Amino acid sequence: MHEEFFDGRLIVKSGDLTDETVDAIVNAANSTLLGGGGVDGAIHRRGGPAILKECRDIRATRYPDGLPTGEAVITTGGNLPARHVIHTVGPIYGMNAGRDAELLEACYRNSVKLAVENDLSTIAFPSISTGAYGYPKHEAAPIVFRAVADLLSDHSIELRLVFFSESDASSFVQHCA
Ligand code: APR
Repeated sequence: MHEEFFDGRLIVKSGDLTDETVDAIVNAANSTLLGGGGVDGAIHRRGGPAILKECRDIRATRYPDGLPTGEAVITTGGNLPARHVIHTVGPIYGMNAGRDAELLEACYRNSVKLAVENDLSTIAFPSISTGAYGYPKHEAAPIVFRAVADLLSDHSIELRLVFFSESDASSFVQHCA
């Protein structure tokens, strides 16, 4: 599936995020930044040890207690086709005193902010928090779409939302408005 919005500056598609040849892909990490399953596991598996090394350095220097939910950091893309990985921690659904939506939006906003600060202009996101972190996909869709629309009006960037399945991608398009 491949749908375009905003004069082609937003692409909604299905596929493996680690295949994307962009300036940065965004990792749905956890606060340890030391890897995990899902997207996190796929990125470290394919990207190789250079990514984890930089994550460890970030933990040792700037975030000794872990990366807070909604924040983002950037590392090399290692062996990935993408030049960089932006790691962000999505909200665990229902565990944020009613701030789930605000924190999910912060993941997208802070990831784009970091990309723009690093002169990156093509960024691909997975469906943050909708896997192990339990965010209902239909509930996340309009939050993500609105956040992405705002970011595209504020920055001359190209964004991709890459869903692991066709059904997730088409469900997003159905629920995003
Ligand atoms: N490419 C694109 N999307 C993927 C891929 C992939 N290779 N692998 C998984 N996904 C999709 C999942 O189907 C889900 O829709 O990414 C979405 C996010 O799922 P998770 O990876 O489980 O991320 P999240 O829900 O944010 O949970 C994060 O899981 O992997 C651990 O270390 C991670 O603890 C953290 C938690």
